[in-house]
Formats: sequence, C-alpha cells, structure tokens
Amino acid sequence: MILDIYLRWYELALRATNFEVYGSPRKDLFQNLILSGMGGSGIVCDMIYSVLYSSSEIPVTIVKDFQIPRWTSKNSLLCAISYSGNTLETLNTVSKALEVGAEVCIVTSGGKLLELARVRGLPHVVVDSGLIPRAAFPQLLIATLKLLSTYGINLCSDLRSLTNILRDVDSVSKISKELAEFLKNSLPVIISNTRFYPLAMRFKDEFNENSKMMAKVEVIPEWAHNDIVGWEKPVNLDLIRALVLWDDDPVIEFAVNYLKELEVKVRVLKSLGDDLLSKILYGSHVAGLTSTYIAELRGLKAEETKSIEKYKNFLRSLSS
Ligand code: F6R
Repeated sequence: MILDIYLRWYELALRATNFEVYGSPRKDLFQNLILSGMGGSGIVCDMIYSVLYSSSEIPVTIVKDFQIPRWTSKNSLLCAISYSGNTLETLNTVSKALEVGAEVCIVTSGGKLLELARVRGLPHVVVDSGLIPRAAFPQLLIATLKLLSTYGINLCSDLRSLTNILRDVDSVSKISKELAEFLKNSLPVIISNTRFYPLAMRFKDEFNENSKMMAKVEVIPEWAHNDIVGWEKPVNLDLIRALVLWDDDPVIEFAVNYLKELEVKVRVLKSLGDDLLSKILYGSHVAGLTSTYIAELRGLKAEETKSIEKYKNFLRSLSS
C-alpha cells in the first residue's frame, strides 16, 4: 500500500544517501542545464529548478514534453528523471539530447533508461525498484542531488541531515489527518509564492493521483494580478477550501487576510526545515499523507491511477 511507503520515507531517504553514482560525468563547463521528467518524477525537476533559481550561474530549464529546446547543444547537460525508466516523453528528450551531443545523466529504477545508461555509459543513479513513482520521491530527489553534485551543481552540502526532516512521522501524520478532514469533498486551491510553487504543484498532483480529486494552484505575486479577482464571485464558494503554503513574505500574509475577509475556508501550512529544500521535502511528506488519508476517507484506493495507464497504453499503441 502506498501509505506504508509514505510512512517509510525517512528510511528510504536515508538509504538513498548511500546510492552510488555510476559512470564518468564529462568535466566540461556546461552552458545550460535541462531537467526532464514527467509526473511524480518530473516534480523533482520543479523542485531543483526552484532551489537553483537564486543560486545557479547557468540557465536552468524544465522539460515536461517530448521535445527539447532548439538551443540544446553539446554544451548542455540534460538530467532525465523517470522512476519506471519507460516514460515515452522522457525517453524522447534523452534521444534528442544525445543526437545533438549533449551530456545526458539519468535517475531511474530500471526500464529502457537504465538499459540505455548502461549501454552508452551515461552517468546514472539507480533508485530502489518496486515502489510507486510518486511515493519514491525522496529517493528520486536525493539521487538527483547526488548526480548533479558530480557536475559541480551543489544544492545540499549534507544529505543525511536533510533526511532528518522526515523523522517525526507521528507529528506529520497528525497534521495530515487534520488537513485531510478539512479538504475531503472539496476543490482544494493551493496558494504559494513562486519559490514554493513546486510544493504547491506537488500538493495538487498528490490530490489528483492519490485522492482522485481536482485541485488548483495559484502563485503569488502573479496571483495578485488575476486569481485575486476570481475570488470575488466564485461559482460555488462552499465547495472550495484554500490551503496557503506559508513563507515569510508580506504578500502571503496579505493573501491570507484577503481570503479570511471573504470568509473563505482557509488553512495555512507552515513547513518545517531550515532551508527551501528541507521545507519542500517536509511539505511533500504532508502532501503524500494528506492525499492518502483523503483517499481513505473517500473509500478509494490511493495507489491506483487507471487513467494514467490508459494514456500510456494509448501512447504505446501509436508507436506500435
Ligand atoms: C505514478 C505517478 C506518475 C508517473 C508519471 C511518469 O505514481 O506519479 O505521475 O510519475 O506517469 O512516470 P515515471 O515516473 O515512471 O517516469
């Protein structure tokens, strides 16, 4: 069951800190970094992007598609993340990047990507197999951090202390159960500022996949230029619950007060952790557990994602 995996995140993360990086990364100075991945693997790209936004000296971009940017060249580093190793969009970006001579590195548990990494000698990290992609998140994240650090792209100096944020399972479960009660049977609207956008997306994705619910993300300060007006006369305010991801940011405070004035049912989540990465990891734990508890409350199987399989079968039928 997926719940058991979320409850084991600390142990899984700790294991990941010992994963080996295979292959020899090219020692060039890359001119740009492309992060490629879909769904539960692709969210790692968003998180890395957010952390690098304020620190990277080279441009970083995210690809969640079959195509890579036209400017990709032998001076690019493409990091592909796919838990299964068989996601066609991600596989396609890898082939295209190899065609133009870019350096490609891979995080996966197996499939065609692992085969390719071994045959072509591409730098790669192998995460544990037998998990569910979205629930393998701490391993995918830590494996990617390790892989990127071999290229001199350092986002975390101490991976073991990063995992500590996942230790207190009882308190995170308690918070998640309360949040699940608040959000069940609603249309959750998750509001964050730009640096927490990937965490807001993670909540949305987890509500979609585990709870089988629609959810919406609104991002500050862009929020204040359009979404804010939508709150004036929503079609069904009773259905909506707002979840605000806290940051010490006056506009977040403004948003919370604004929603309360409109009598919107709102909860504020303050992530624990000393830096953005640990706050995102902690918040993702809350997202996983909350969405799974909502599935339980709704009598649904959190692990099942039939419609994603339907889409993947459709894609395969196109190429056969
Ligand atoms: C399933 C899930 C999906 C997959 C996505 C890409 O748990 O979360 O969003 O992550 O379909 O597949 P992978 O991760 O295998 O590349």
